[in-house]
Amino acid sequence: VSRPRVLSGIQPTAGSFHLGNYLGALRQWVALQDTHEAFYCVVDLHAITVEQDPKVLRANTRVSAAQLLALGIDPERSALFVQSHVPEHAQLGWVMQCLTGFGEASRMTQFKDKSARAESAIGVGLFTYPILQAADILLYQAHHVPVGEDQRQHLELTRDLAQRFNSRFGKTFRLPEPHIVKDTAKIFDLQDPTSKMSKSVPAGVVELLEDPKRSAKKIRSAVTDTGREIVYDPENKAGVSNLLVIYSALTGRSVDELVADYDGKGYGDLKKDLGEVFTEFVTPVQAKVAEYLADPAELDKVLARGSERAREVASRTLARVYEKVGF
Ligand code: ADP
Ligand code: NA
Repeated sequence: VSRPRVLSGIQPTAGSFHLGNYLGALRQWVALQDTHEAFYCVVDLHAITVEQDPKVLRANTRVSAAQLLALGIDPERSALFVQSHVPEHAQLGWVMQCLTGFGEASRMTQFKDKSARAESAIGVGLFTYPILQAADILLYQAHHVPVGEDQRQHLELTRDLAQRFNSRFGKTFRLPEPHIVKDTAKIFDLQDPTSKMSKSVPAGVVELLEDPKRSAKKIRSAVTDTGREIVYDPENKAGVSNLLVIYSALTGRSVDELVADYDGKGYGDLKKDLGEVFTEFVTPVQAKVAEYLADPAELDKVLARGSERAREVASRTLARVYEKVGF
């Protein structure tokens, strides 16, 4: 029996992933390997939608792959690859661009956010990026796409494009479903617990590859509120609630259990303990990342095998698409 397919990607831009990436998406990537045929990629084509230093990009692509392996992506079971190694992504991306309305693309809120924050000139690639992402997913006929809440709109675009292609040219693409785990779909910034943790706001971001002492310090100075009660109340206690969600996700203990445990204790205790919990989680991950990076030739071999597996599926889909559009 063939298993349902799963596809997801992550940008190598920052080098280190952050806790929002891990809890919102990457943890699900790892878990879904048990039930799905998985395709996971480091999306370097997406990375050049903003200016990149070529040396840094190449290094960060390896660092990203090393982190995925260290977090539990198993290259024996899953295809782990680099997006630019599979040319079908760019090729299907073009077909999908020709299917997308200009107004439709203009409605993507991530573009509005990113272009408003951009420090240099904005390229068309930043605008069409969700369309390439649609191609990433549709190439593999993915049933499920594990992502954080911020990707929901892009998944809707992907489904719309798949449906449009199917109705214009005949059934070709499976309509993918987002796989969004509600509890951890949006991890908030530690310094501004009303906005999502993101690599573009370094102060409140916990990075997987930074010194855990630095992470513990960031957690200790997380913005909370002037109250003293440790309860889960995202509306009025965004900071404390965010810490409870992270704590719960990293330990597997429920938020209710934690709230009961911390009854009568202060925010300082919660933050100090969470710093330790995070350190315990991340220390072995960092050790494994260092091991993978110590042997770049082996790492490149793993990625080459991954792209071979990915191409088998991607080239089949692209051939059908090309045939249908009249190439
Ligand atoms: P960033 O948002 O920091 O630029 P990416 O866009 O590379 O990171 O996101 C990679 C994955 O991590 C996506 O699936 C995204 O939805 C998820 N993700 C990013 N930030 C968060 C967050 N704060 N909480 C939950 N998931 C997140
Ligand atoms: Na994002």
